[in-house]
Amino acid sequence: MKTLGLMVCISLVLWGCARKTAPTAAETAAKFSHYSDSEGKTIFMEKCGRCHKYRLPETRTADKWTKVIDKMAPKAKLNDDQKEAVLAFVQQYAKS
Ligand code: HEC
Repeated sequence: MKTLGLMVCISLVLWGCARKTAPTAAETAAKFSHYSDSEGKTIFMEKCGRCHKYRLPETRTADKWTKVIDKMAPKAKLNDDQKEAVLAFVQQYAKS
């Protein structure tokens, strides 16, 4: 019985760590639920959390986003339409 308790304990800890590095789809959706749905939001959620954690729209000014998206669009392999949609999304909620 003691071993079982320990096993449960260890698996909970491991599960906790795994969750930290890879948020579930539900957690990601919750993080983005206060933005209204748009093409740009969908692309952002799909492409912009791959190499680093999401840098959310309100963490940068609109001006800064223009520069950042210019740099990140090729990294995320966005075409011109996708780039424009993502830029519109982040600028809509940008820091003022
Ligand atoms: C292929 C990997 C990759 C993808 C995909 C990617 N990024 Fe990045 N991003 C990086 C790296 C590497 C850095 C840090 C080095 C740098 O600033 O160039 C970075 C830095 C950033 C920064 C900080 C830059 C600053 O000067 O403040 C922001 C904001 C950012 N990325 C947003 C995005 C957004 C938005 C997307 C989706 C369009 C995206 N990233 C997709 C690799 C990526």
